[in-house]
Amino acid sequence: TSGEKKEKSSNNYIHGIYFPSIFKKENIENVISMKPRDDDIFVVTYPKCGTTWMTYIIWEILNKGAPLPPANSLLFQLAPFLDLSGTEVAETMESPRLFRTHLPYRLVPKNPSTKYVYVTRNPFDCCVSFYYHMKGMKHISGVSGSFEDFFEDFILGKVGYGDYFDHLKEGYHHRNDPNILFVTYEGMKQDPKGHILKVAKFIGEEHLKSLQENEEILEMILKNSQVFTDKADPSNQIKVDFFRKGIIGDWKNHFSPEQKERLEQRMKEKLDGTEIPSLWEG
Ligand code: A3P
Repeated sequence: TSGEKKEKSSNNYIHGIYFPSIFKKENIENVISMKPRDDDIFVVTYPKCGTTWMTYIIWEILNKGAPLPPANSLLFQLAPFLDLSGTEVAETMESPRLFRTHLPYRLVPKNPSTKYVYVTRNPFDCCVSFYYHMKGMKHISGVSGSFEDFFEDFILGKVGYGDYFDHLKEGYHHRNDPNILFVTYEGMKQDPKGHILKVAKFIGEEHLKSLQENEEILEMILKNSQVFTDKADPSNQIKVDFFRKGIIGDWKNHFSPEQKERLEQRMKEKLDGTEIPSLWEG
């Protein structure tokens, strides 16, 4: 499979996790060993599970519904993806700092006062979204093949950040920690306003209070955090990778009945005894 090819052609394993070659070991190590500030907020996800959306929501809450900055500036400077950027950019940021990472929870830098928002999404849609993301950057990802090939890698966990289910189980295991908020993409879709309030409460009661007292700001946050227009901006470096359809169930347009059954089986093996599948129902 292409997964095997990748293993042979790359020794980009850090702490036992496979990273595509654009990730530098030094950056990852620096993230793992960084000391978070008390008021830092981390969005922690497996790739394609709602990182960007949650980042927008948090930025909007912190900035009281202000117009959304261009995606490039938001995603590279204001809420950097640490795994790729490294920690240098973090040093000059003003508090409260907002970060994104796909590291499995055990490797995310810890501080008991720091807040971590873990977002999960059903593995079917995640797989399809991941496929288009990798294909969209095929010059660096090496993924230019069919969905069938990617599916085989995904189901075996031979993709960037390793096994989807292992990552999820780690986040889920900590879902009741006081400094973790565990939510699903599907839940956010079903009740975006409720989730904005939930996130506001989590990052600070004062944020919740201000939204409860100011319906207009809440409406602005709701509107701005769902923006998808950057996709059409030709100056935008990140284009389609982060903004595609943003729907639930697109997998039905991609999975064969056999693939569906195999991923369901895998899911059963990996998540048995957890209530996770019911959470994706929103
Ligand atoms: P699709 O590829 O299914 O459209 P991530 O941000 O973790 O990379 O996840 C990307 C997925 O979230 C993509 O899913 C993308 O379209 C969707 N997404 C990005 N921004 C969003 C937003 N503001 N609201 C809802 N979904 C969003």
